[in-house]
Amino acid sequence: MDCTLQIFLDDRWVDCAQIELNDGLCQWNHLVMYAVEHTDAPLSLAEPVDMHLRAARTMPAFLHDLAPQGAGRCFLLGELKLPDGPDADFPLICAGAFNPVGRIRVAEAADYFETHVARHPGARGLPGLTIDDVVVRSAEFKDRMFLHGMLSTGTTGVQGAAPKYLLTRDRAGLLHGDAILPDADATQHLIAKLPRGNSAADNKILRNEAAYMRVASALAIRTHADLPTLHGDLLLVPRFDRIASDGKVVRLHQESVASILGLPGFDLRPSLFEVVAGIRKVVTDPSAETLEFIKRDVINLAMGNTDNHARNTAVQLVEGKVRLTPLFDFAPMYLDPEVIPRALRWYRPDTRVELTDWADVLAALPVSDHERRMLALELSRFAAQIERLPDIMEEQGIDHDIIEFLTQYIDTQVRQLKALQPPEAHHAPSEPTYP
Ligand SMILES: Nc1ncnc2c1ncn2[C@@H]1O[C@H](COP(=O)(O)OP(=O)(O)O)[C@@H](O)[C@H]1O
Ligand SMILES: [Mg+2]
Repeated sequence: MDCTLQIFLDDRWVDCAQIELNDGLCQWNHLVMYAVEHTDAPLSLAEPVDMHLRAARTMPAFLHDLAPQGAGRCFLLGELKLPDGPDADFPLICAGAFNPVGRIRVAEAADYFETHVARHPGARGLPGLTIDDVVVRSAEFKDRMFLHGMLSTGTTGVQGAAPKYLLTRDRAGLLHGDAILPDADATQHLIAKLPRGNSAADNKILRNEAAYMRVASALAIRTHADLPTLHGDLLLVPRFDRIASDGKVVRLHQESVASILGLPGFDLRPSLFEVVAGIRKVVTDPSAETLEFIKRDVINLAMGNTDNHARNTAVQLVEGKVRLTPLFDFAPMYLDPEVIPRALRWYRPDTRVELTDWADVLAALPVSDHERRMLALELSRFAAQIERLPDIMEEQGIDHDIIEFLTQYIDTQVRQLKALQPPEAHHAPSEPTYP
């Protein structure tokens, strides 16, 4: 089984690589013309554009970012009549990755989608919907979703467990399935996210996600300029991997931390020290992004966002610079009925012992003393903002019981961060320093 990858450059899809999977061996290479002409546009920041043939027992890690998950995955497994499991990933990508987040797609999946649309001519040219139509799940919306919505919205191209649809706003402000609306008519790209399950807790998590994002923004964490908004039990999240203007759409490179670390599959749990090392290898300003990442982890801990797995952090390439994307999937996940323990933790590189105090984490980070002092100073300043967190959460409308529950976690963060006065004595790094 093989497939061709395409990348969206200069307003068109360009063939860039071939992937072949046979008897558990995955081989892939860039197309020669692509390798010659586009060394500046890699499929993954961890994979330089070259002429090498790569071979491995697993698919390249970046391909897992394109694998359908959640509701889109279930739908497509049914369409393809496949049992679920890791072996389903490749066929699912070959059919479902026609419109993923980011700027890479699979040519065969684009064909699969066109065939689907040809079977359902009604999928194109439908009138747009208002957000109210979508929220009340009008008969028309239901019909569209069940008949061909999973595909027309491009839902198989977005990951995560919560049911979601990719929607695009046209010039009149009406919403369409993302995969259906031509770029020329698009003005804004959105993810419509529904609660993960049917419980009151699932609902509460989603209801608070918009307010959580406003809190992060108030704390000067990098957030998208357009924050998510709540409509009934539907969260409308403006996308930061697409820029629509003048009848054209720019698709930005976006890639999960799992992908830049070369982690295949969905269940691997790197230490947060490895995550930081991976981020530093690809970003333009390693010390700024390390600080940003640590601040995000502070608020994860302070605000009970336990779901910090390696696909809930991503990097993007904007105007020639690589950085962490704006924050996403930030919510009171400690409430999840399936009980989501904190996925990634700071395991000391040498002893593998978990570190739970910022002073210890900073001491173990293989950075220069200058950078360590900068981090300590900035984080001790951040303490003043975290101290105000209960008030900020209140101002942004987060449920009172959540704020009350989190008080002890906020206090711990404040105490630890305040203790991070710039160190008097230099900590000698025990590991080699990051470049
Ligand atoms: N605002 C956004 N812009 C672009 N991509 C996004 C945005 N928010 C989420 N994503 C992408 O969509 C995926 C699913 O969204 P997420 O909020 O993580 O859903 P879930 O709660 O189901 O995990 C993310 O892993 C990320 O790749
Ligand atoms: Mg997620």
